[in-house]
Amino acid sequence: MSYLETKYGLKGKTAIITGGGGTLCSAIAEGFAAAGANIILWDINAANLKAKSEIIAKSCGDAKRVATVEVNLMDENSIVGALEKSVKIFGQVDILLNGAGGNRGKGPLVDVKAEDFDFVLKLNLLAGCILPTKHIAKYWIDNKIKGRIINIASMAGFNPLSGIWAYSSAKAAVMNQTMGHAKELAPYGIRVNAIAPGFFIADQNRKLLLNDDNTPTQRGQDVLARTPMGGFGLPEYLTGATIFLASDASEFVTGVTLPIDGGYLCNNI
Ligand SMILES: NC(=O)c1ccc[n+]([C@@H]2O[C@H](COP(=O)([O-])OP(=O)(O)OC[C@H]3O[C@@H](n4cnc5c(N)ncnc54)[C@H](O)[C@@H]3O)[C@@H](O)[C@H]2O)c1
Repeated sequence: MSYLETKYGLKGKTAIITGGGGTLCSAIAEGFAAAGANIILWDINAANLKAKSEIIAKSCGDAKRVATVEVNLMDENSIVGALEKSVKIFGQVDILLNGAGGNRGKGPLVDVKAEDFDFVLKLNLLAGCILPTKHIAKYWIDNKIKGRIINIASMAGFNPLSGIWAYSSAKAAVMNQTMGHAKELAPYGIRVNAIAPGFFIADQNRKLLLNDDNTPTQRGQDVLARTPMGGFGLPEYLTGATIFLASDASEFVTGVTLPIDGGYLCNNI
């Protein structure tokens, strides 16, 4: 193997990618598959799982390295069942990318509905981070596997985005827990890091950022004005950073959140 394949390659590794039926995580899965990994997409949406797995199988040229498991990450029993199925598919799991998440609603603080807040917090923090990590870390500790976890945070985790209270709270907590989990799991050789994407057009935020004719909404224009590199993110921008965090190239890196934001965070007047 070449130097780059040894350092950055994922050959022989198996990755679970939650939210793998979605826009960003299916692109990350495509990158992992191109780097040699076996892929298991986890998602609640069976139709999207089928569609995305076919795309990834075609792009990596080896359908045998791509599998799917339908799961509801809001339900701990469903996670336990999905992990059992996943271990059987390729014999072992080495990487967890916690990608499921999203927002519901946007509005003034004084109009916040407790049930919506509760749902978004649970989706992004418990289902999108804590619960899969809990079960997969236990499986790794029991089987002495030095796993790697990559969480997905957000710009909203650094600085709350207006009107999306629960999502901002949850993503700040994901960054906080990335550090906490990294410390707790380091003695077992398990590394935990996160990425914080900037603004990428996906199903969950399309209406916030784009009008029906694909021109940016006022909020979309505000984002673009604050993004020094210009433009919204493209899903493939996430592959290099996630391969780095999943591979031996980052072997002494744990507890960090890496922004992938076109400079949004360093914009200033
Ligand atoms: N799009 C962006 O600009 C952006 C920016 C920062 C962070 N993120 C984060 O990136 C991740 C992926 O987002 P995306 O934009 O690709 O959204 P997406 O809606 O395309 O993907 C999210 C996926 O999660 C799945 N999911 C939802 N609830 C689930 C459940 N209970 N069990 C299992 N799967 C479930 C959905 O079916 C969907 O396929 C999310 O965590 C999101 O918060 C996105």
